[in-house]
Amino acid sequence: MFTKPEATTRLRELSEIITKSREAYFNLNQSDITDQEYDQNIAEVAKILEKYPELADEFKILNQVGVKPNSKFNKVKHLTPMYSLSNAFSDEDILNFLKQIRSFLDLPQTSNIDLVFEPKIDGLSLSLIYKKGNLFQALTRGDGQIGEDVTENARLIPDVPLSIPIEFETLEVRGEVYFPNSTFKELNQELIKSGIKTFSNPRNAASGTLRQFKFNKERNKNLCFFAYSVGNDPYQLADTQEMLLKMFNDLGFKTNDISKVFSNVEQLLKYYEEIFSMRPTLDYDIDGIVYKVNDLRLQERLGFRSSSPRWAIAHKFPAEMSITVIEDIEIQVGRTGTLSPVAKLKPVNIGGVIVTSATLHNKDFISGFDNKGKKIRAGVDIRIGDWVTVYRAGDVIPKIKDVDVAKRNTNSEPFAFPHFCPSCNSEVKIDKGDSAIRCHNFQGCPAQIIAGLKHFVSKKAFNIDGLGGRIIEEFYQKGLIQQPADFFRLETKSNQGLNLIELLGKGWGEKSLKNLINSIDASRSIQLDRFLFSLGIRHIGENVSQIIAGYFGSWERFYSAVKIGISKDNAQVLSEIEGIGQLMVNSIMEFFSDHKETAKVEDLLNYIEIESFIKHNKIETAITNKKLVLTGTFKEFSRAELKSICEKNGAKVLTALSANVDFLVVGQSPGSKVKKASELGVKQIFEEEFKVLIDINI
Ligand code: IVH
Repeated sequence: MFTKPEATTRLRELSEIITKSREAYFNLNQSDITDQEYDQNIAEVAKILEKYPELADEFKILNQVGVKPNSKFNKVKHLTPMYSLSNAFSDEDILNFLKQIRSFLDLPQTSNIDLVFEPKIDGLSLSLIYKKGNLFQALTRGDGQIGEDVTENARLIPDVPLSIPIEFETLEVRGEVYFPNSTFKELNQELIKSGIKTFSNPRNAASGTLRQFKFNKERNKNLCFFAYSVGNDPYQLADTQEMLLKMFNDLGFKTNDISKVFSNVEQLLKYYEEIFSMRPTLDYDIDGIVYKVNDLRLQERLGFRSSSPRWAIAHKFPAEMSITVIEDIEIQVGRTGTLSPVAKLKPVNIGGVIVTSATLHNKDFISGFDNKGKKIRAGVDIRIGDWVTVYRAGDVIPKIKDVDVAKRNTNSEPFAFPHFCPSCNSEVKIDKGDSAIRCHNFQGCPAQIIAGLKHFVSKKAFNIDGLGGRIIEEFYQKGLIQQPADFFRLETKSNQGLNLIELLGKGWGEKSLKNLINSIDASRSIQLDRFLFSLGIRHIGENVSQIIAGYFGSWERFYSAVKIGISKDNAQVLSEIEGIGQLMVNSIMEFFSDHKETAKVEDLLNYIEIESFIKHNKIETAITNKKLVLTGTFKEFSRAELKSICEKNGAKVLTALSANVDFLVVGQSPGSKVKKASELGVKQIFEEEFKVLIDINI
């Protein structure tokens, strides 16, 4: 055990890690430590304080346990969703990005595409809504669909104009709020003086300041804002991103002065290096560069994937690395039973974040092979006690880059992957499909059930505030929650006299429980795509859920197609949807033919309301709600763009022809589909006719 000075040092370290994790958790950011690590840290604090109770006053960390207070800000649906960006890590990724753009637009690979170079500010995005020229609302990004109303705090930011000299009915100006590095140091010094916890980086300071409930006028005045886009551009503010940025200046916003337009990609990449080396001299943190197609008309044609635009990409700066030791290898069991090894590291600082664990992916990765059986790290395996280089790029979970075999202990042993599930002790099997090692006790394994419940409440599913991993585990262990519908029964249980506070014990009070029940209540209404995603069906991720929801539109329609006894015809319907592969169809069929699963779904349906899926930017044209199949190559569109146009017009694009299909859109060299369409009596339309039908001019 520690001496008293050692105990103080360790308590200080632990307090910092725990506070950070709580902060991440309270702000719904990704935490860099797992729930188990959190619990271990808490247990360690308790153990030290047991020996040195006199230190308890100085380290009050244990007394602060509790649930996150319900988000204090009103939640407001964005007029236009706030997307995120896909990432690029190399020059090659950028060349690929341009290649994909040209191919989507069906342009020759030699054609010129101007890109705007903008620094990617490491702050938090904010959407400012102006009505008739006056600031009406300021919303944080939230989950991209629904943000928090932080208008009162945003009004105090000097860079946010309270009115703009154009009286549009509604204008959404979007940009990044950040805390300048210069004032950040001063802020922390002041906080130390007043005995208040400091912020670990400027991003947290910006988020903490903008999202503090009792606003602190002085601190909000330190925040800055750069404008970089509009929510949607009905007024055609500008023709190019470059002009838009100038327009923002005219309206009274600040824009970033590093921004620049490039038509030559080599020069653009050179500028990336230049800015990378300037990074330490800037008064704001940047974690990469954003490249955007300059021509806004092209941006519109390129449109969006499920969560990011096709017309922009974030070129991330190289990952930061550190060297540390693997103290242990833990096996976590996921929602679908996959056993994932995690390296428990001696805590190490990587670019300002204390890292205590890193993913080891799977058994092959530990043994020194990638998933194609090719050697990685020259075939060197990973063992407990090894010295390793750990890196983190952006928000991603830390990873192992390399092992220093020279420093390996001579008596170390290769890691033995378990043959039994660490949670339920069932035998584990290798899945042929994806070579993952799985626990096959799908319905009864506690780890799988808990992971499924965590998924159910997660941001992209039911998005229930205040229900973190630890709380779910606690509720499960205490028998309160076994399946999703149980969340909605908590209130009744407590009304029927079950003393939840007593059952839950430490850390729970009237108020925290009430907050939790309120946020569960607030999640009762859910959009179809999120609901499908929340069910945790294997292979049915966010993107696929959106495709399915877009196809069926309502839960009733979907459910009657897949309900128990799913017919071959319906399975056929599913597999005909573009973007839905056989693996996914099988998985959906398997899920809905399982009585236990459907019983859980039906139980849940008693408590919730599923909203029909509304596609954004839906335009009513002659192909809206029609089923289309595309064949051949097209003169003016790539396949991908044509599909995206059809979907924007509310049509359903299928891969296979059947008598149910309304139109076959025929390009050049169409192949056998034309003959089949004639046999089936499916109407055929050619590219020119198609353009007339939906009224587009390219
Ligand atoms: S454009 C539709 N431009 O990066 C794309 N984003 O992962 C909207 N960010 O949530 C984003 N600087 O908070 C854009 N110059 C910039 C940016 C920027 C920082 C942030 C933003 C967004 C995230 C995307």
